[in-house]
Amino acid sequence: AIYGSERPASTGPNLFIDSQATPFLQAVAQFHTTQWQASASINGQTPQTSAWQPVYAPWDHSHQVGQIAWSSPEDAHAALNAAADYQAAWAQVAVTERADIFRRMAQLMQTHLAELVALCQREAGKTLQDSIDEVREAVDFCYYYGARAQEISEQPLEITDLTGVIRRYQRQPRGVWVCISPWNFPLAIFLGQISAALVTGNTVVAKPAPQTSLIAYRALELLYQAGLPKQALHLVLGAGEVGAALTSATQVAGVAFTGSTPTARHIYRALAQRPQIDTPPVLIAETGGQNAMIVDSTALPEQVVKDVLLSGFASAGQRCSALRLLCVQEDIAERVFDLLQGAMAELRLGDPRELATDVGPVIDQVAQTKLEAHLTNLGAKTHILAQTPIPEAYQQQATFVAPTAIRLQSLDQLGEEEFGPFVHLLTYRANELPQLIQQINAKGYGLTLGIHSRNETTAAYIEACARVGNTYINRNQIGAVVGVQPFGGQGLSGTGPKAGGPHYLASFTHLVECGVGD
Ligand code: NAD
Ligand code: ALA
Repeated sequence: AIYGSERPASTGPNLFIDSQATPFLQAVAQFHTTQWQASASINGQTPQTSAWQPVYAPWDHSHQVGQIAWSSPEDAHAALNAAADYQAAWAQVAVTERADIFRRMAQLMQTHLAELVALCQREAGKTLQDSIDEVREAVDFCYYYGARAQEISEQPLEITDLTGVIRRYQRQPRGVWVCISPWNFPLAIFLGQISAALVTGNTVVAKPAPQTSLIAYRALELLYQAGLPKQALHLVLGAGEVGAALTSATQVAGVAFTGSTPTARHIYRALAQRPQIDTPPVLIAETGGQNAMIVDSTALPEQVVKDVLLSGFASAGQRCSALRLLCVQEDIAERVFDLLQGAMAELRLGDPRELATDVGPVIDQVAQTKLEAHLTNLGAKTHILAQTPIPEAYQQQATFVAPTAIRLQSLDQLGEEEFGPFVHLLTYRANELPQLIQQINAKGYGLTLGIHSRNETTAAYIEACARVGNTYINRNQIGAVVGVQPFGGQGLSGTGPKAGGPHYLASFTHLVECGVGD
């Protein structure tokens, strides 16, 4: 479990205490009118397959961010062939050289911090702080996987048998990887997946979420600038049908997917149904959560509410780790709910480029409609405890959803993950705790869990009974730090291995016996 701690700042200014904050904000503002472009990239070339289409910001549908030329399933096949052609050559490049490319990439992202922050704000609707954190996490992934790749290559696994014979095992790349990423971490997860695959000697075809293709393309340009050969990484842009063309192809040795649980199911099926399977591809699938926070009567209500706001409503609730279900022991429930009501009235929704904005938009109309339908479906069976209003200026031509705290009667009312700013509330009696944990486990998800308790025995009991990937005690439950808090779930929430942890790179490689000696 992770106990209350703060995220270390690996790069970038701290907006509230750093004297560089004002010049930094001015530097970001210089990119508030830039128009970016994105297209497929196969061996660094753009296939001329479709017309350019405009992209608009989720917080203002008249604010153009750039334009995109979408890819076709044929582009996906061409990209896979190109990746397969170059894989053997890339595997021969020394691991230190591959890691150096990612170290240079990390440095380049820090040089381009202001531009990348502006791009995250404008295309993904991320607040200023979320955008800075996004770039920081991407930087961390590049440094961390570079260093880990060198470590595992320089220290081959050695096993000595009873007669003194030493067997040595080294890691070799698997081949061509398809990396499919979501829009909610458009730079960090996009780069986390592909840096892991490339630094271990695989070649990659990447397909970012269509909602954040401009960010992905800008990252690709910087990677090429950092020295990555254009034949090692190919990009295709589009929605599910382009992803499906990639995952059903026979050249693929592995798929790194991060996204929703239903999409992971499609990919499992597609991989299982591939014709002429020689070697079944590896699938890493990091998916959604139905994350609870359990608060007992010894918890500090003020601290709980601070952590609920951050865990449930930061990033407009669009984090896989976000809090969805707040369970409070009834002895302190009314106090916690009163404070929550007050705190939610203070949240500010608005333009993510503004420093004062706490909550930005949800990503698009599809997400907005789905979230609104969830509230309608819960309807009369629930009671809305608090709802932060959407300012009038953002009610049209934008996709905002009001942060909402909803009192449930029972856990049965909660179905699949709702990916937005909703926290569902339940109360429980002390003697109902074992049953509550059992019901949460029975939902099948297992990503994050928050525990608020000053009773160590209770906290340890909850932690031991819950089936989740990451547990956070007496703090918020979002924002795992690369290299410090390996992140990933179990059950419907993911296959593992945990991203940003020491075991992640191993999945991108084969372990091969490399020689026997005394
Ligand atoms: P999504 O499942 O809709 O899409 C993810 C990616 O899969 C996109 O690139 C999409 O175009 C692609 N895709 C869609 N259908 C496909 C198909 N049939 N074959 C291949 N690819 C296909 O998810 P999203 O809306 O982009 O992201 C939000 C989801 O991601 C949430 O459920 C969230 O919990 C999850 N997520 C999980 C983690 C984690 O680490 N566990 C991290 C971030 C986001
Ligand atoms: N790694 C991200 C978090 O912890 C998803 O919030």
